[in-house]
Amino acid sequence: MKGLKKPRSSILEPGIHTFGPNAERRQLSVMFCDLVGSTPLSSRLDPEDLTAVILGYQSRVTATVRRFGGFVARYFGDGVLSYFGWPVADEADTEQAVRAALAVIDSVGERQVQGEHLQVRIGIATGLVVVGELLGADEARQQMAIGRTPNLAARLQDIAKPGCVVIDDATFQQVGRLFECQGLGPVALKGLPDNVTAWQVTRAMRSSRSEALHATTKLPPLIGRDEELHTLLRLWSQAKRRDGRVALLSGEPGVGKSRLAAGLMERLRGEPHAKLRFFCSPQHQDSPLSPVIAQMERAGYLNGSSPVDTDPRESKTPGPDDPANSEDAVLIARWIEPDARNSSAPSIGARNGMERLIGDLVTQLTDLAARRPVIILFEDAQWIDHTSLELLSVMVPCIRYLPVLLLVSCRPGFSPPWVASPHISTLPLSGLRKLEAVALARHTAAPVMLPPLVIRQIIARAEGVPLFIEELTRAAVEGGWDEGHPGENAHSPNAQGAVVPPALYASLAARLDRLPALREVIQLAAVIGREFTFEKLAAVSNVAEGALADALAGLCEAGLISPTGADAQVGYAFRHALIRDVAHSMLLRDQRRQLHGRVADVLQRRSDEGREETAPEILAHHYTLAEMIEPAVRHWLAAGLRAFRMAAHREADSHLCRGLKLLERLPEGVPRARLGLELKAAAGLVRDGSNGYGHAFQSTFAAWRGAGVQLPPSLAARHWDRDLER
Ligand SMILES: Nc1ncnc2c1ncn2[C@@H]1O[C@H](COP(=O)(O)OP(=O)(O)OP(=O)(O)O)[C@@H](O)[C@H]1O
Ligand SMILES: [Mg+2]
Repeated sequence: MKGLKKPRSSILEPGIHTFGPNAERRQLSVMFCDLVGSTPLSSRLDPEDLTAVILGYQSRVTATVRRFGGFVARYFGDGVLSYFGWPVADEADTEQAVRAALAVIDSVGERQVQGEHLQVRIGIATGLVVVGELLGADEARQQMAIGRTPNLAARLQDIAKPGCVVIDDATFQQVGRLFECQGLGPVALKGLPDNVTAWQVTRAMRSSRSEALHATTKLPPLIGRDEELHTLLRLWSQAKRRDGRVALLSGEPGVGKSRLAAGLMERLRGEPHAKLRFFCSPQHQDSPLSPVIAQMERAGYLNGSSPVDTDPRESKTPGPDDPANSEDAVLIARWIEPDARNSSAPSIGARNGMERLIGDLVTQLTDLAARRPVIILFEDAQWIDHTSLELLSVMVPCIRYLPVLLLVSCRPGFSPPWVASPHISTLPLSGLRKLEAVALARHTAAPVMLPPLVIRQIIARAEGVPLFIEELTRAAVEGGWDEGHPGENAHSPNAQGAVVPPALYASLAARLDRLPALREVIQLAAVIGREFTFEKLAAVSNVAEGALADALAGLCEAGLISPTGADAQVGYAFRHALIRDVAHSMLLRDQRRQLHGRVADVLQRRSDEGREETAPEILAHHYTLAEMIEPAVRHWLAAGLRAFRMAAHREADSHLCRGLKLLERLPEGVPRARLGLELKAAAGLVRDGSNGYGHAFQSTFAAWRGAGVQLPPSLAARHWDRDLER
């Protein structure tokens, strides 16, 4: 059994060697689960009994993995390999992988064989893979992810103790705040050249990123948001005068809703008030009142545990010993604790019970508000369960007459069911302003000082969304940077294009995966760039124009792209630069090379025919990614000279440096030597540009003349040549 098990260096069986057309580059969390002690078991059990044990174990793992949204790719005897993030990505993939692992340990552990509980060990790694259907000559088909990540997951599983989950650092960086983890330090793993930082997961701690943010004791400073904070403080003053208020804080993921709410809480420190915080989460959308139950658990109502969510400086919500609360606790316990369902608690019909419970909770709030003003934070209402929504709908009109401020945060798309009323307001939150964004990037990078050009690029790509600013900055700091692509060396699904930080990847990929049928069109558009026209897309695409127009309409409707300019037929832009980057990063290298080549050809042809001028740096970019080195270098040179003529010295220098870097990939010979001279001469021009035509430039030409070299054509036609030749 052992020999069969693990995805060792060669997981390809004879005859299986190509990926099918659906293969993609993806960031996945890969889970490898292994049954402990299967070899001794195989010598103790009759083969038929052993088969039953293994099949039972496999079906428990499979059911649990599927329940958490994972995909079981393969069984290796008593090993099970699962992917989270494919075929459809979800922003919580990595988190779900870890939750699934903890649940697998419990589920398998329930099974006893010869008086002993079964145990598993689990390894999880997150990173880039190529994933898709592997096709073989023998018609065998299997879904397979190939890359370092699956091997790493298998190796981490090797070092996990029985009943334990070990994760790699990439997984920890993304979801470590949601789990209690113990560092195992850098560990040596068989077959891997470098030591790997690993963590053992002990238990789940928080239900979402928003909850983790509120649980952080010392948050970095709140940047900007003065107006919004001012509005919230005004609503709070009104609420305190028994003129209760409800504010709906809406905005896209990562824009700063939770941070603003935390900022308000910070401002209220020292004021007498009660604070109730409820967190919805994607995993609990179907669990009645889950945010309320979790709040009660945190406050120690249900299990008598010490409150974890209390700040000793603040007024606490009533404790479990408050007689007014005990009945609610019993009612709630009936849903969450299966044994309590048959307890001696008063038996009431489910519907009546729910209504009564909601009524009780509202009464409890009224009692609490009679003692001190209350601020209620209801986070991430887009994931609210049906019963909690009913509770909110009952609470909202009551609040009008209570000293209560209810702050509901949500992402776009959540439409509250309560009717409009003067005490309800909506606060749409948009991205940070430019200077604020710069301040956040600098603060995140500290003590490292990023070069201004890198900061500018981060700001341009993040478009004001603080989460994107933070993650792009961290990627730049950790992975180093070059002027073209900050964070280029970072762990990335797209080493040849713009980098998408791993922490952002899943949530952006999830947006694309909502429309799998339109994947081809959106990837092609991504190859053209952030902005593209229908005409250009049609010129490079094999899709018929009618179908293309329908696809673009679908993508607009889904909010992935939007029309630009007056005529919707003419231009489109990706709604966010990072969505474009993720769509682009999913292409396999060969596909990407071919498509960029096709785009470069189309643009060049249109330029040659005088139909549309394309900036040389755009052509250079496409030729570079098409790996057509000579035209790429020529266009970087042209782009550098053009930028120089426009007195954009920094850009000119950057274009020429890219040309020089690429030049090394050209074979030795006359074209390379000639282009090299031209690039170096142009770079000399640019560096001396601010002082007129300085001596470096002149000395280059003097050296050429001395060597009898003819002036290169790219320079011969320029006006400065005449000056110099004089
Ligand atoms: N004004 C700000 N100043 C400093 N940091 C901020 C600011 N706004 C947001 N951040 C940081 O950006 C990150 C994302 O913010 P936050 O979690 O509040 O976003 P969100 O809108 O609540 O996202 P989600 O919809 O996913 O819950 C956090 O790390 C937060 O600390
Ligand atoms: Mg939040």
